[in-house]
Amino acid sequence: MRKPIIAGNWKMNKTAAECRELVTALAPKIEGAKCDVVICVPFTDVALAAELVKGTDIAVGAQNIAWADSGAFTGEISAAMLKEAGATYVIIGHSERRQYFGETDKSVNARLVQALKNGFTPIVCVGELLAERESGETEKVCRTQVVGAFDGISAADAAKVVIAYEPVWAIGTGKTATDEQANETIGYIRSVVKELYGAAVADGMRIQYGGSMNAKNVAGLMAQPEIDGGLIGGASLKPDDFAIIVNTAK
Ligand code: PGA
Repeated sequence: MRKPIIAGNWKMNKTAAECRELVTALAPKIEGAKCDVVICVPFTDVALAAELVKGTDIAVGAQNIAWADSGAFTGEISAAMLKEAGATYVIIGHSERRQYFGETDKSVNARLVQALKNGFTPIVCVGELLAERESGETEKVCRTQVVGAFDGISAADAAKVVIAYEPVWAIGTGKTATDEQANETIGYIRSVVKELYGAAVADGMRIQYGGSMNAKNVAGLMAQPEIDGGLIGGASLKPDDFAIIVNTAK
């Protein structure tokens, strides 16, 4: 049995003051959650969020991690910095990073290696563009992204990774994949993991759905056998909605 994992991706939202407000409102609403709960916050909120979640079941994640330990990498953030600030999870390869900031399967792989080396639980994002779904390339795209991300990574390390399947056309659009579409593609991604690492790793790996997941559609998505949770953008900024999502995932 895979324990579901619900992760909020705040993206570039919430100042420190707003982070305090949101976490303070959220924590009591999700007491006793039956799933793993993570909030992936902007870098400037990591230390504060880690402080605020003490004594709760909420973990804190970042939204990126550099592949190098330190040095001349303007604008990047290191594993040591994130660790000291209190992050234990990190999103890698989000489609917005791929679309707007030139992230490639190769850089995703390098960041994943670094995250694993430093004991983080990585959330690796994959997913197809609308044009790719329409031209029947969803599986090919997801396969390429998964194979690229996991290049050179051992089975023992792969077993620590969470994958988020996020069809790009569903992110922030209000257009969710149907329960069946999400389940089918996640099942396919699991079959790729099985090819790479065998049945034990594939069966144990948690694969989330992401893309306009909200308080209304969470129950249907979570009822699907392949879907082990969600990576939630917009709805993670609203404590009531995020709490419903968390409390639905069992
Ligand atoms: P959304 O974002 O829930 O706002 O669609 C999901 C994500 O990008 O992780």
